[in-house]
Amino acid sequence: MALVDWLWILHPVLAVVLIYPLTGIVIRLAMQTRSRRLKTAKPPPTVGRNHSDLGRWLAAAVVGLVIVAFTVVIARHAPLDQFQGGFARAGTLLLVLIGTLLSFGALSIATAPGLRLAFALITWAGVLGLGAQPEVWRLSDDPLSPAFWQFHYWSGVAVVGLMLFSLGARPEILRDLRLRRLHVTANRLAVLVFVAQGVTGTRDLLEIPLSWQKPTIYACNFELRTCPPPAQ
Ligand code: HEM
Ligand code: HEM
Repeated sequence: MALVDWLWILHPVLAVVLIYPLTGIVIRLAMQTRSRRLKTAKPPPTVGRNHSDLGRWLAAAVVGLVIVAFTVVIARHAPLDQFQGGFARAGTLLLVLIGTLLSFGALSIATAPGLRLAFALITWAGVLGLGAQPEVWRLSDDPLSPAFWQFHYWSGVAVVGLMLFSLGARPEILRDLRLRRLHVTANRLAVLVFVAQGVTGTRDLLEIPLSWQKPTIYACNFELRTCPPPAQ
């Protein structure tokens, strides 16, 4: 495999090796936290703290995972000397990338509610801004079309939003019953989205040819599902 193919699989590898095991642990600790609060079982008192601490890592890992996907998709869409928009656009995108990461760092350490809300929104806006680039392939932007719901992109950025919400609202989830309920509902949805991402991501991986196969595969007609006859 060429270096560029290894770059393509960096995002799926991180998802499989890091995100999904971590999600499993966070969900297990979430269930223990809830059963401890409802007194239906007696897990150790540390489960809430552990859930919240590993939840922070999960949120950071999901943001990192999506940023890696965008960086690879945008940087490897065409040879670097043919980069659409040249150095000016590449520099702007790099600034957005750095700003998004800095904003996420600030969100992790901010304590004032207003600052947490602002940094969560800026981080999400940065992710959406990078995802809106023409190099990032989207089947549909219309939520009323079935293609929208089958697509890896929108659910990916949605789950980033859900993670940022949990991270930003951590103190309130601890204190306020309404936000705790909202957190549980939002993250039930997040668990479904993680499963959907596993399905659509694996599908996408199957559809992307290795770099040396691309000239032949992209000569095929994807609508009619036909390919030119192979050369002798
Ligand atoms: C897969 C993702 C997640 C799921 C399914 C989940 C679910 C839950 C559940 C069921 C509870 C217990 C609620 C109760 O006692 O009624 C909880 C508590 C909590 N969660 Fe999450 N959560 C997730 C991710 C996160 C993330 C990313 C963070 C933040 C970084 C977070 C922060 C918290 C906090 C601070 C509490 C309160 C802990 C305590 O009571 O000591 N969670 N979560
Ligand atoms: C937490 C789980 C995941 C999230 C949030 C996520 C999110 C994303 C996002 C936002 C993109 C960029 C948009 C796009 O090109 O479609 C992307 C690309 C991609 N993801 Fe994931 N992903 C996850 C898991 C996975 C898994 C498990 C796989 C495969 C095993 C995978 C395979 C891919 C591939 C191959 C691409 C590039 C697709 C393309 O170029 O069209 N992802 N992912």
